[in-house]
Amino acid sequence: MRKDFLWGGATAANQAEGGYLSGGKGLGTVDVIPQGEYRSAVMQGLRNYKELPEGLFYPSHEAIDMYTHIKEDIALMGEMGFKAYRFSVAWSRIFPTGEEEQPNEEGLAFYEMMIDELLKHHIEPVITICHFDVPLNLYNKYGSWKNRKMVDFYAKYAKALFERFNGKVRYWMTFNEINMLLHLPFMGAGISFDEGENKTAVLYQSAHHELIASALATKIAKEINPDFQIGCMIAAGQYYAQTSHPNDVLAANQKNQDNFFFIDVQSRGEYPAYALKFMEREGIELEMQDGDLELLRKNTVDYIGFSYYSSRMIGTLNPDTDVTSGNVFPTLRNPHLQASEWGWQIDPVGLRITMNALHDRYQKPLFIVENGLGANDTVEADGSIKDDYRIAYLSAHINEMIKAVELDGVDLIGYTPWGWIDIVSASSGEMKKRYGFVYVDLDNDGNGTFERSKKKSFDWYKQVIATNGESV
Ligand code: BG6
Repeated sequence: MRKDFLWGGATAANQAEGGYLSGGKGLGTVDVIPQGEYRSAVMQGLRNYKELPEGLFYPSHEAIDMYTHIKEDIALMGEMGFKAYRFSVAWSRIFPTGEEEQPNEEGLAFYEMMIDELLKHHIEPVITICHFDVPLNLYNKYGSWKNRKMVDFYAKYAKALFERFNGKVRYWMTFNEINMLLHLPFMGAGISFDEGENKTAVLYQSAHHELIASALATKIAKEINPDFQIGCMIAAGQYYAQTSHPNDVLAANQKNQDNFFFIDVQSRGEYPAYALKFMEREGIELEMQDGDLELLRKNTVDYIGFSYYSSRMIGTLNPDTDVTSGNVFPTLRNPHLQASEWGWQIDPVGLRITMNALHDRYQKPLFIVENGLGANDTVEADGSIKDDYRIAYLSAHINEMIKAVELDGVDLIGYTPWGWIDIVSASSGEMKKRYGFVYVDLDNDGNGTFERSKKKSFDWYKQVIATNGESV
């Protein structure tokens, strides 16, 4: 592995920070997604948060209170020898309603303190500009990404970050898992639907707005500092064909294309033919402004960031085959794979396959910015947590990652496993779905001391980093 390989970890503001109204922060869309029975319908944009009963639990409000534990948490990263930390900025900390002319100084100061602390520990900050959160006011007033106005709100926000953190931050990603917009519209992009709306048309129009915003942010970034590295970020995981029947292979190809749609635009700079044909068949005519296509063409990303939890499988012959979940994407159960307690199938070789597919397609450096195992940990009587299952998952994936680099020649910037410290789960809102090397004393209902403690995997990962992957 290259000497400057960025070993580290990742989190997102709404799943870690808490302090949901501290320091002048405004409400974000993620702050109105409750845990429990309504969560799924709200995330899908099928139920408006305003219609929910009182008294629900909102896990983002306190999360693991990283807002006040930040220095302690960075010290733990430093102790593990992290070279990089991928985190997101909460948009509504910087522009509480999204509409202010000037950014909220307290919000900027918080992230600046955090970045300075990271740099003190020689940890490269890697910023996701938007990880599933939109200032709630922009949803209430404009319908979020359905509306073209979002492009300017987002550009103003991104510019404020680029200007303030210029010289301290090099790696950026415009949107976390941008393809989530099509699968969990409210969670992914603050989109919900009105009666009688053509959902597919709404989603593709909103996607166009995000793609334009991403290209515009890239343009602004390069004007401020040509050395900035701007990435896209996709929820990746290759689709396999269930059988060698050509129809299954074709179905898998089509699913892969669907998944690549956003990055095809962000990386190659134009709408791919299969997407144009799809929209034509659906009768969708994207509303564009003059200059949109040129903006997309001229402002492509520098690297491909992606999350990988699982491969996926599709078939056309046996529709009754078991279906399981996997980072939101329903998939047929692959008989050759084990699954996590949450049904996400475990496929380390799939990571190598996915890396090759992305590298072949885009010929750009890749960055694995999420990977990991969500599991229910047991705290032993002596306080220890023996998470050998997590070590097994991560070492198998790191091994395949190294093969992709050393045997297949994939250009890889770094590896930041998800939830290096336990955080709230995005899909379920639970705390018990833990990914961390560091345990946080907090339960699903928000009870606990917030105390941090090291799991067995902490020292294991520290060693992996110290040996640049050789000890794995
Ligand atoms: C990705 C998201 O989809 O998967 C993260 O970018 C999320 O925000 C992660 O937390 C793992 O999913 P979950 O539902 O187990 O938290």
